[in-house]
Amino acid sequence: MEVKTSLLDNMIGVGDMVLIEPLSEDTFIENLRKRFEHNEIYTYIGSVVISMNPYKSLPIYTAEKVEEYRNRNFYELSPHIYALADEAYRSLRDQDKDQCILITGESGAGKTEASKFVMSYVAAVCGKGQEVNKVKEQLLQSNPVLEAFGNAKTVRNDNSSRFGKYMDIEFDFKGDPLGGVISNYLLEKSRVVKQPRGERNFHIFYQLLSGASDDTLKKLKLDRDFSKYNYLSLDSATVNGLDDAACFRTVRNAMQIVGFMEDEVQSVLELVAAVLKLGNLEFKPESRCNGFDESRIKDKNGEYLKEMCELLGIEQSVLERAFSFRTVEAKMEKVSTTLNVAQAYYARDALAKNLYSRLFSWLVNRINESIKAQTKSRKKVMGVLDIYGFEIFEDNSFEQFIINYCNEKLQQIFIELTLREEQEEYIREGIEWTNIEYFNNAIICDLIENNKNGILAMLDEECLRPGTVTDETFLDKLNTVCAEHQHFESRQSKNSKFLTDHSLPHNCFRIQHYAGKVLYRVEGFVDKNNDLLYRDLSQAMYKANHSLIKILFPEGNPAKVNLKRPLTAGFQFRASVGTLMKNLLTKNPNYIRCIKPNDKKAAHIFTDSLVCHQVRYLGLMENVRVRRAGYAFRQAYEPCLERYKMLCKQTWPHWKGPAREGVEVLLKNLQVPAEEFAYGRSKIFIRNPRTLFFLEEKRRQCLEDLATLIQKIYRGWKCRTHFLLLKKSQVVVAAWYRRFAQQKKYQNIRSSALVVQSYIRGWKVRREYRKFFRANAGKKIYDFTIQRIMQKYFMGLKKTMPSMSPVDKSWPARPYGFLDGMHQELRRIFHLWRCKKYRSQFTEEKKATYEEKLAASELFKDKKALYPSSVGQPFKGDYVEITKNPKYQKLNSLVEDKVLLADVVSKINRANGKVRTISSPRIFLLTKKSLVLADQKTGQVKASVPLLDLSSVSVSTQSDGFFALKLKEGSTSAAKGDFLLSSDRLIEIITKLHRIGAASAERNQINIDISDEFLVQFKQDKVCVKFIPGTPKNGNGVACKRKNNRLLEVSVPSP
Ligand SMILES: Nc1ncnc2c1ncn2[C@@H]1O[C@H](COP(=O)(O)OP(=O)(O)OP(=O)(O)O)[C@@H](O)[C@H]1O
Ligand SMILES: [Mg+2]
Repeated sequence: MEVKTSLLDNMIGVGDMVLIEPLSEDTFIENLRKRFEHNEIYTYIGSVVISMNPYKSLPIYTAEKVEEYRNRNFYELSPHIYALADEAYRSLRDQDKDQCILITGESGAGKTEASKFVMSYVAAVCGKGQEVNKVKEQLLQSNPVLEAFGNAKTVRNDNSSRFGKYMDIEFDFKGDPLGGVISNYLLEKSRVVKQPRGERNFHIFYQLLSGASDDTLKKLKLDRDFSKYNYLSLDSATVNGLDDAACFRTVRNAMQIVGFMEDEVQSVLELVAAVLKLGNLEFKPESRCNGFDESRIKDKNGEYLKEMCELLGIEQSVLERAFSFRTVEAKMEKVSTTLNVAQAYYARDALAKNLYSRLFSWLVNRINESIKAQTKSRKKVMGVLDIYGFEIFEDNSFEQFIINYCNEKLQQIFIELTLREEQEEYIREGIEWTNIEYFNNAIICDLIENNKNGILAMLDEECLRPGTVTDETFLDKLNTVCAEHQHFESRQSKNSKFLTDHSLPHNCFRIQHYAGKVLYRVEGFVDKNNDLLYRDLSQAMYKANHSLIKILFPEGNPAKVNLKRPLTAGFQFRASVGTLMKNLLTKNPNYIRCIKPNDKKAAHIFTDSLVCHQVRYLGLMENVRVRRAGYAFRQAYEPCLERYKMLCKQTWPHWKGPAREGVEVLLKNLQVPAEEFAYGRSKIFIRNPRTLFFLEEKRRQCLEDLATLIQKIYRGWKCRTHFLLLKKSQVVVAAWYRRFAQQKKYQNIRSSALVVQSYIRGWKVRREYRKFFRANAGKKIYDFTIQRIMQKYFMGLKKTMPSMSPVDKSWPARPYGFLDGMHQELRRIFHLWRCKKYRSQFTEEKKATYEEKLAASELFKDKKALYPSSVGQPFKGDYVEITKNPKYQKLNSLVEDKVLLADVVSKINRANGKVRTISSPRIFLLTKKSLVLADQKTGQVKASVPLLDLSSVSVSTQSDGFFALKLKEGSTSAAKGDFLLSSDRLIEIITKLHRIGAASAERNQINIDISDEFLVQFKQDKVCVKFIPGTPKNGNGVACKRKNNRLLEVSVPSP
């Protein structure tokens, strides 16, 4: 929300008319218009508030607004009626100064509304509490009651106050309301009997007929029909936007709150009904014997009279008589004269008006009784005056005269008080007072109220004068007495100036009021001033059996007959205005000047001429001039320095010394001419508004710079704090993030370590317990089974082992296929082992035998058919027992070496090929070095062949025992040729022969040639020995036969 510190902030036009430059009526009105168009309806003239009627509800009277204006200085905020109310209330409460708020303006300008705003503001800001609230409520609720009875719709205002009202609100020392006193002025009672075109009677009549219940109307003997009542104008009986029925309920409620008893309310309503009925009485003339006409109530109206009398408890005949006769009492005499019809009507209307106006006064008194302060202690008072403003109509009568007189008086005290206040302020502030030229309207007041020759005094004189008194005689009197007065104008005055002034009719006089000239028509002045009510009528009223009526007509009491003429209306009014003025003069005045912007009761229309007219008669220009005469603007030093201190380096941003010195430095620095200001004790006075505007303009420029500076610094600060915040946040975020990242990393590592650990542990445990695992069971079982199988296999093998014989070929069958390799291997190993074992038991001798056997096998196995038969024969070597047999002793001794073999062999005859088995058996001896053939019988050596001469041995493949010992050619042994021998032990012989060759180093290996055809050298011949399969002619023996030189056939029987 915008925070204001001065009225000068964001002004539309100027908020204070004193500041208008240049000052003229046009600029004044232009300023009002401008502000009005922006809904700124309030404008100041110094401390006076000008209020324009917006004719629409504005949102400026809210509780928030009340708070805004509460306890704020007058010029701190934009102009508002609340500022004035607050100022008045605070100076009443805090400075003990009684206040009065004077609200003036023409009809419809908003006076009554303004007075209500003031009252509601004060009610809102003053103390609270049950008792206080009750008082406030009663004070506020007095308004609807008074408005119902005292307001009416007029052409100018739908809710026009037809009476002047002054209300004193009383407060205790704390500022809490205690009660109030209301004074009313000059109710426009003529309205009761007659309303101008387009206007209505007082609201209460319409409200009663519209809003009262049927029951109430019945009791009051009324019909819910406006047209039945003569006093009610019909052409504007209903007002737009006004709900009479609802208003009636409001009024009833308000009366109850204010403290009216039920019977009092009833009495009041009865009186209102009585007035309506009175209006329906009509009269007819009735000729009397004395020749005069006497008025009589028309028969058809008898009913109304009856009802009225019943309502008021009056004897019908008494009232009837009062409308026909009039008793005039002079000293001891009583003269009764008849009333003609016109007089009867006059009397009726006079009664109605009196009845109503007295009822209204009673209401005011009754309200006063309720709201009066209960304490006798000293009270502070705030008076609110809501009085009709200056009236200038086309046709102005006694009422306008009275009203305008009242306004003259108010203007007078306004000028007086304003000047006085201004002067007092100057003195207070120690500033030299310059005399102000202004128009003093005391002279006009004097014209009206002067006791000797004032217009009111003349009127009274005329009224009291015996003889024929008419309005014309009154005018004549004025023409003579006031002719010379510079503010009085009349056609027939002695002042020749106006003789030819056609704007001035003959039956009129004109007064130059302070607010303009007003032409008054004298017609009715005398009557209205007299305000005559025939005594018979007041006595008839007094006789009424009705508590309220009796009180209203005390002069009707025959016991207190007052023969003096009653006081004239003019006189009464002058007296009450006098009292009012005295009252006001004791108080501190606050002015609200109401202006209506147009005649159409419309929002948004601003009629220049109308406003101009009001500005003139309210004397507003005068007001501004007075205010500006000395110094246009003043302000306490502190707020002044506070407002403008930025315009000077010394005072900005802080001034350490007293505010006044600060302001002095400031103005000096700004080079404001000395005559433009004056230093008061607590205020600086500025002569011309333009100086103020100069300061304001400078301030505005400076504020722009300052705003930029503030903006700059603020932006810098904002950015910096934002940056620092970001930085700080970033650090926090980073820290958190790092923490988070490290945490995460740690958790990762930890969980990884745990995983690794668990794997290792698992692995360890698994390794330890693998054996127990089901997965390993198979292998275990397998191993076990295999083990068992092997065990069984080995056990079985042990049992079924074959013999230790190396030739034993048997081997148990393998139990399982998969053991095949091993089974064979075992067999092989076993066999090797068995052989080894077998061999290990061999003696050297046996070993040699076997070696021979082995050699034999290598040489002949599968090569010679004889071989198998040799296997079983032990190689004895010495088959002839050479050493033992004495026959061979010689032979033995001949052989140097040890005989390795000695056997008997058959020598084949080289010549015929005959086998010398028996014939020529030979002993075959073999030693290491030679072989010897000896005769078996004799032991004579036949041949000895050194082994070195032996080149090879040939044998057949067959089962024969033939073998040829081939000698090396050229050797000594070879002379006779090769030996062809046969032996059953061929295998042994050849083997041993072969072994000797192999073992000897110096000898070549003897070749063994196994073939069925080989050549042998017989002497010179090379004979082919051929083995053929033979038929066993000669038994089973081998047959050998030399075929020719070259061929020797050996037939060998096939086995
Ligand atoms: N401040 C306001 N805001 C809104 N409407 C307003 C304001 N002041 C006056 N009015 C309107 O103008 C009408 C006339 O105002 P108000 O009755 O106060 O005039 P007045 O000066 O008292 O006239 P009179 O002299 O006839 O009593 C009100 O009924 C209301 O509709
Ligand atoms: Mg009013």
